[in-house]
Amino acid sequence: MSGFAFRRRFGRLGHVLRAHDAAKLPPEHLFAPLEEERGPEVGRIEGLRKELLSSTATISDFHFGSGEAVASRVTRVAHECRYSSVPARWCRVLFRLVRKTKPANCIELGTNLGISSAYLAAALKLNGSGRLFTIEGSPSLTECAKRNMTLLGYDNVQIVNSSFETGLPDTLKEAGSVDFAFVDGHHDERATLDYAGMIIEASSEGAILVFDDIRWSSGMARAWERIAADKSVTAVYDCYDIGAVVVREPGATRKEFTRIRA
Ligand SMILES: C[S@@+](CC[C@H](N)C(=O)[O-])C[C@H]1O[C@@H](n2cnc3c(N)ncnc32)[C@H](O)[C@@H]1O
Repeated sequence: MSGFAFRRRFGRLGHVLRAHDAAKLPPEHLFAPLEEERGPEVGRIEGLRKELLSSTATISDFHFGSGEAVASRVTRVAHECRYSSVPARWCRVLFRLVRKTKPANCIELGTNLGISSAYLAAALKLNGSGRLFTIEGSPSLTECAKRNMTLLGYDNVQIVNSSFETGLPDTLKEAGSVDFAFVDGHHDERATLDYAGMIIEASSEGAILVFDDIRWSSGMARAWERIAADKSVTAVYDCYDIGAVVVREPGATRKEFTRIRA
């Protein structure tokens, strides 16, 4: 996309990000790949992804799609895995952010079959501490994800079967504070802003919040722009498909914007 098209589509934020690009090197400390990403822990998760992709099993219950719960449907596990799970290259970004920032409390909205949850759990396991609360509205997907966590041997994950609307406030209460969050579901402008607001309020100093599909729709692009502009956000990393923000980073005197090819 040309600079003009980028600015026209994403407005002032696009302009600021472009201007900043020229001036600043990418933050290597957060986004540089780790040797471990080629290690056995990640290998086992990708092995599971491969199995799920060739599974002939079906699941049947109501589903949330991109937000609201809709009538019952039957879907194939392989289809869910192919079209809903975060691809390996973005899962590796989540993994490295957790390895590098060592969060105590992590929150995920949108468990699905548990692929991104597994990457987060693997990073926490390698950190030697920390726990993940992940919320999924579909009861059948929740069961599948629980089985997958057991298969992979991650006991640092609590999977909450609930709508985000009701599950998030309770989960935030239980977690106490948030050091890392991944928002990957209900891609609606208003809903995303509501979830982001609740998570930002519960965030510790320096917490990292990652949002998937920030350019999935014009509403999501607007939500991302508002989140990036929030006064509590002190650094913004725009990776085009996903975006990450740092909340109330100690010592930050001005907002940093960076575009990254992750
Ligand atoms: C894109 S998938 C998540 C993929 C997962 N992070 C991964 O990489 O494996 C989004 C999930 O969020 C769930 N979801 C969407 N809107 C929801 C809502 N309002 N409440 C609860 N779950 C919801 C869907 O059922 C779906 O499984």
